[in-house]
Parts: sequence; C-alpha cells; structure tokens
Amino acid sequence: MSDEAIAVRTAYQDPTFTYRYRPELLPEPGGRIDMWRYSRLLPGCDRDPVYPLPVGGTPLRPVPGLREATGAGDLWLKDETTGPTRSNKDRATALVIDIGMRSGATAVTTSSTGNAAIATAVGAAAAGIDAVIFVPEDCRPGKVAHMVAAGAQVFRVREGYRAAFELSRAAAARFGWIDRNTGANPLTIEAKKTVALEVWEQLGRRAPDVAVAPVGDGPTLVGLAKGFRELLACGAIAALPRMIGVQAAACAPLAHRWHGTAAPPLDPAATSADGIAVTVPSIGEWTLDEVRTAGGSFVTVTEPEIDAAVRDLRDLAQVPSEPAGAAAFAGYRSALAMGLVSPDESAVVLVTGSDLSTPPAPGTAPGAAHTISADLDVVAAVMRDRSVAARGGVTGS
Ligand SMILES: Cc1ncc(COP(=O)(O)O)c(C=O)c1O
Repeated sequence: MSDEAIAVRTAYQDPTFTYRYRPELLPEPGGRIDMWRYSRLLPGCDRDPVYPLPVGGTPLRPVPGLREATGAGDLWLKDETTGPTRSNKDRATALVIDIGMRSGATAVTTSSTGNAAIATAVGAAAAGIDAVIFVPEDCRPGKVAHMVAAGAQVFRVREGYRAAFELSRAAAARFGWIDRNTGANPLTIEAKKTVALEVWEQLGRRAPDVAVAPVGDGPTLVGLAKGFRELLACGAIAALPRMIGVQAAACAPLAHRWHGTAAPPLDPAATSADGIAVTVPSIGEWTLDEVRTAGGSFVTVTEPEIDAAVRDLRDLAQVPSEPAGAAAFAGYRSALAMGLVSPDESAVVLVTGSDLSTPPAPGTAPGAAHTISADLDVVAAVMRDRSVAARGGVTGS
C-alpha cells in the first residue's frame, strides 16, 4: 500500500480507505489520461501499474440531442461504455487484479449479475491468471458466453445472486483466490471513485450540481460520492453534487427504504436492467448514507422508461447502452419531472454498460460453464477436475 492510503472501517463496518487529504494528491494538468492518473488517491499505486489493459479516461459527452429532448442545457453523459469490456466494471477489475498480481496471486473470483464477471474474465485472461466466476443461474446466456470465451470457469448458481456472492467469498477464503466481490473488496470503491475525479477535471476542475447513478449493490454510487467527498476534502470543490440513485421499479429495495414506502415483492427477473436487479444490496446502508450526505434522493424507473432511455441514448447521443447502463438516464428524466432536479442545473448522468448482444469471437482457450447448487465442495471438485484435465489427465467437464 502507498503511504497515503489508510484502511479504515465505515460506520457500517465496511472497509474503506482514507488519505491525508490536500491539493497535492490531485493531478496537475497534463500527464496520462487513464485511471492511474489519480494514483496518489489510490492504494498501492505509488508505482506504475502492471495490469495490462487500458482503463479509465472515459469521455464526458456533451449531448446536444438529449439536451434538446430534455430541455436541460447543462446535461453531460459520463460514458463508461468505452472500456475494454464496455462497462464501469473495468475500473474495479483493474485495481483489484493489479494489486493481486503484485502479491503473486494466480486466480481471481467474483460473483456478478454479469458485467463484473465479464470484466474479471477478460482482465484475468489479459493478466495471465485464472478467473472463477459465480453468477445467478438466470444470468444472460450472451454474457456467460463472453466469460467462457475469455477462459473463465463460470458457476451458474441455482439459488441466485446472493448465494453466488456468498459462494464466491467462501471460495476466495478457502482457495486463496483474489476476492473481487463488489462491495466486499474496498478496492472496488477506490477504483470507481475515479469516475468523479475524471468528471471534475473534464468539467474544468469543478463539480456538477447533480450526479445520477444506477444502484444495484451500491458501489457505483458510493464510489462516485466518495470521489466527490475526497475532492471536497482536498479543497478542490466547494460543495458536493446532489446524488440521485436510480433503481428499477421491479427491484428497488433502497428507493423504498429512502422514501419510507412499502416495497412490493422484489422481482429481479421482472426488469431488463439485470445489473441493478439486486434484492439485498451488499452496501445498502452505506449507499443510503452517501445520498443523505450529498443531499440527494432516489428514484425508480419502469420498464418502458428504461426502454425509452436505451433508445434515446442510441438515437440522440449515439451511445449504445444496455438497460442497466441506461437506467440512470431514465432516472434523470424522472428526477426532472418530479422537480428533484432543475433543467438549469449542471447534471452528470452515468452510462454504465453497453449492449453486449454481439456474440464473442470463440476464444482459443475457452473456459466452461457449470450449473451447480451453492455448495463449496462441488466447486472444489469441479476445479480439481479442471486442473487435472489441464495437466492432461482427464478430458471433458
Ligand atoms: C451496467 C451496470 N450498471 C450499474 C450496475 C450497478 O452497480 P452497483 O452494483 O455498483 O450498484 C451494474 C452492476 O452490475 C451494471 O452492470
């Protein structure tokens, strides 16, 4: 770890990092344009990264077509669809694997609704380490195909996402794999906060009035909010942007908590925004707290609203997004309609994931997908067979 980064625990016992904040921790104009530009505010990054893929430095798009459609003259899209696997999960993957590689780790695991798993599979392949992925059984087959093509061992867990999360964490502890699980590994938040640092620079070293993020487990919003809090602590901005968290109406546990309304039965399968369809967010309390601190709010978005957002991002801004990736834009529109945000305010809306419907090219060393019940011994047996097979002793899986 760098001298600056100090690991602490939040009020909710979630691990996080803090620094001795001062203006010198922020970059001067010029220099590299990627996530590592902010290395003085990242743990363990007081030397050049060893992670091989480009990450960060995504565009902040002025969007004339969407400005006209919404009447919001100072609207910007932070387009996270331009990274190696076209979602905001590339940042966290890069930092976790970079630090893991330095300590000699040979495998990484994560659970995921899809995108973090693809980022991990591709990032691990590029870094020359193994990826072992746990997804809910109903994870989109097209996404699983990307993971397998990159060489990952993918476990589809019958009991769903929460069980996949717990199994991945247990497997990391038992087998000594890097644990990239979102929310559980504080490096994921540190990486995601670089979105705020980039936005600040891209707006000419100022913060927007409002920032809008989709919320599943919470790290995307928490990372963004932490980045702005650190800019404030460094004396770089005078006030925090209000944070608007966006959830799909079919699965909106935090929005209902925020508004004190009774949540209808949560139905993750009823939304196309699979990336944010999380029934038990891993850092839900922390997410609520960040929105409170920033003076923001939560909104929910319906399926037709999400569909319209995907369409308008494509047609009016030329940004191809998937439903979860477009949800924040749908939420921004709702926030405008509800008067939570004024069209005169500067607003940055995150687009967090792209359309991955094109099948991957077949990998030269594909992995495999296994459907299992949440049982660590089954994982151990499959992995044992795989490693014997890799040494030439067994074929098939
Ligand atoms: C495209 C997309 N957007 C947003 C999210 C939600 O992010 P978080 O779990 O950090 O709240 C995800 C998570 O998988 C995602 O895939």
